[in-house]
Amino acid sequence: MLFNPPSPLEVKVLTVRFGLPNSASIDTFLANDGYKAFEKSLDMTQEQIIQEVKDSNLRGRGGAGFPTGMKWGFVPRQSPKPKYIVVNSDESEPGTCKDRVLIENDPHMLIEGCLIAAQAVGSKTGYIYIRGEYRYLIDVMDKAIGEAYARGYLGKNILGRGVDFDLYTHTGAGAYECGEESALLESLEGNRGQPRIRPPFPAVAGLYACPTVLNNVETFAAVPSILLMGGKAWADLGVAKAGGTKLTCLTGHFNRTGVYELPLGFPVEKMINEVGGGVRGGLKMKAFIPGGSSCPVLTGDEAWPLTMDYDSMAKAGTMLGSGGVVLMDENTDMVKAALRIMHFYQHESCGWCIPCREGTTWLKKLLTRLDRGMGTEKDIDLVGDVSKNMMGRTFCPLGDAAALPTESIVRKFRHEFEAKIAKTQISMAGVASPFVVV
Ligand SMILES: Cc1cc2nc3c(=O)[nH]c(=O)nc-3n(C[C@H](O)[C@H](O)[C@H](O)COP(=O)(O)O)c2cc1C
Repeated sequence: MLFNPPSPLEVKVLTVRFGLPNSASIDTFLANDGYKAFEKSLDMTQEQIIQEVKDSNLRGRGGAGFPTGMKWGFVPRQSPKPKYIVVNSDESEPGTCKDRVLIENDPHMLIEGCLIAAQAVGSKTGYIYIRGEYRYLIDVMDKAIGEAYARGYLGKNILGRGVDFDLYTHTGAGAYECGEESALLESLEGNRGQPRIRPPFPAVAGLYACPTVLNNVETFAAVPSILLMGGKAWADLGVAKAGGTKLTCLTGHFNRTGVYELPLGFPVEKMINEVGGGVRGGLKMKAFIPGGSSCPVLTGDEAWPLTMDYDSMAKAGTMLGSGGVVLMDENTDMVKAALRIMHFYQHESCGWCIPCREGTTWLKKLLTRLDRGMGTEKDIDLVGDVSKNMMGRTFCPLGDAAALPTESIVRKFRHEFEAKIAKTQISMAGVASPFVVV
């Protein structure tokens, strides 16, 4: 099982069954409170379920942190069209690897979350869109779905209660853009994975232009525990305006990397030193990304006093994102880090919007030049300028995702870019070079 040893500082709500023998099987699930929340939901009205989710202060775990109960409340009650449940399991954000851990260890928790969401909005069909590279997870999920059908938790007349719900897996083909909700829906419909103009939002016109609840794996997986504990108790695990726990992925220069379930509002210092075992090799932290590579980068000094929640990170000028923490030690070359991040976004830009397609290509070229020490001061300015001009000018936030980390790295670590230029000038000063003005 792909899972690190637990930390004593974790609060295990979503990961409570991880580590049990055959944790992915329906027998283990049923023996450990599995499907009890769904059975409870069968005796609740749609409004009551949505109210519990609102009370829990659950915010979407896919990155944007939108309040889940509010999103479900937008789905029209009286629509003549079918309503769909769509699970976003595209998980392509560099630094994020929690959804795969959830599915691998407890796929029935996700199925139960879908069943409850379906009850809340009156849906009879759901799809789990799984990232193409997660081929093995499709087998895990399909097996769990098969077990749920066999035991009467999916299909027609579920548990003899007159409820129907079918659930299918669908595989992506490895495009980061297909994690963006509207591109995902295009892809699920069999079209090229490019974003849609919004509004209308998926809650009103999503899959096949029908009302759709689209959430991240972790968001759906949180719902059974919310119904069992009660929304308010679940909210109290976290902080004001952000309830519950968050699966947090510690990646990069930690002594103990892994996926840990921490309550929202957990102190960054404690997370690094006590959960993650400190910075590898006893080095200093130079840079910190709280929620995946699309978030603005913090310096070590900025990050230490913060807490892991949406408001704390927003006040510091960054985002909690999807919980993909990336720690960079004092030996990290920040020019190379910026280039590597841009290499990813340039490759993954779907190419539809010009600012994103051209901007990421320009930035990659500029950063390559700067990394090789061939750039100029003007190139450094241009990186910041191009980044700023991409932000907010694309159909989907992929443009921002590429620009935000880049702009912050250039602003906060400009001296490293300048040092590369200076180093090349010194080493080439003795030779006649077209690149050096001496
Ligand atoms: C380029 C891009 C990639 C994204 N990738 C993912 C992803 O892999 N998984 C995910 O859940 N959300 C991803 N999102 C966010 C989704 O668009 C959407 O906000 C989210 O799935 C909604 O679920 P939530 O409310 O539960 O967070 C991505 C967004 C963008 C702009």
